[in-house]
Amino acid sequence: MYVLGLETSCDETGVAIVDGDANIIAETLDSQIELHAQYGGVVPELASRDHIRKALPLIHETLTQAGLEASQITGVAYTAGPGLIGALLVGASVGRSLAMGWGVPAIGVHHMEGHLMAVMLDDNPPEFPFIALLVSGGHTMLVKVTDFGHYKVLGSSLDDAVGEAFDKTAKLMGLPYPGGPELAKIATQGDPERFTFPRPMVNRPGLDFSFSGLKTFAMNTYNSVTDSDQDKADIARAFEESVCQTLTIKCARALKQEKIETLVVAGGVAANQRLRQQLHELPAQVCFPQPQYCTDNGVMIANAGMLRLKAGQQTGLEIEVNPRWSLEDLEVPA
Ligand code: KG4
Ligand code: ZN
Repeated sequence: MYVLGLETSCDETGVAIVDGDANIIAETLDSQIELHAQYGGVVPELASRDHIRKALPLIHETLTQAGLEASQITGVAYTAGPGLIGALLVGASVGRSLAMGWGVPAIGVHHMEGHLMAVMLDDNPPEFPFIALLVSGGHTMLVKVTDFGHYKVLGSSLDDAVGEAFDKTAKLMGLPYPGGPELAKIATQGDPERFTFPRPMVNRPGLDFSFSGLKTFAMNTYNSVTDSDQDKADIARAFEESVCQTLTIKCARALKQEKIETLVVAGGVAANQRLRQQLHELPAQVCFPQPQYCTDNGVMIANAGMLRLKAGQQTGLEIEVNPRWSLEDLEVPA
């Protein structure tokens, strides 16, 4: 079994081939950072056009890297949502059409299931059940995962996603796009004692999050200082600390509430070193995908698609995407 996966939900074109045992056979990735940097954020129309330019050459390159002929591919997976509608439509059109041309099944993959299952690519993958903390540019969720495809959302962000809060806070301090990793970089130089930011919603029961207030707090703090590199680093450090502690408190609460001892953390923000450090201190088995499989990539889509195809599912001939798609609405494997 060789499944070719295609990720185009936002600003990365990712292609990969995995086999039926989740071995990565080949992978390519093209980031659109330079394209969007001058606008300070993702421009959806430019993203779609760039996916159109990159998808087929990358698919070709991935097949060559794998040493496989197109006729050896046994299934095609593409991101069907959530994400930017135009960008999703590019991947769905290319993926669905290739599968039809090659005479193999196609599967539309949920982007967050892709993130979540990326941890299964590890040599020692966690066992079900586990709690998953999904933290990306568009989502912040705590999910109870009892098996592949069996998801219960326990809590989510009421406003900004964590990655979005990182990006917006970075932007207001004039850091380049994409802000999350840039803010994390300067935070390492920050003084942890200088500012203390609030830990939003930790004193309220439940597992929901709210991060938009933190961004405002960061802005007010930033407006009260002189704007030196040290000021920015200190604010970045306080912001990051607050986010990491808030996430850690909620993860501990979810594990306790559900009486589960394994935590999986996935999505772009799971690449954050401080978060990894803090969550590893929890009295639980804590698993992260490798950092390159935390941010968007084709491997995670190929892998989740492979699992869905193995479970006997496939998508019909219509080209359909779902820009707003809840994890809980996914088909439950038999
Ligand atoms: O999962 P992802 O690649 O794309 C989405 O599905 O959204 O996540 C991207 C998000 C961005 O908001 C980015 O700033 C954030 O993840 N991010 C980070 C780090 N690396 C990526 N945030 C904090 N620290 C990082 N090291
Ligand atoms: Zn993502």
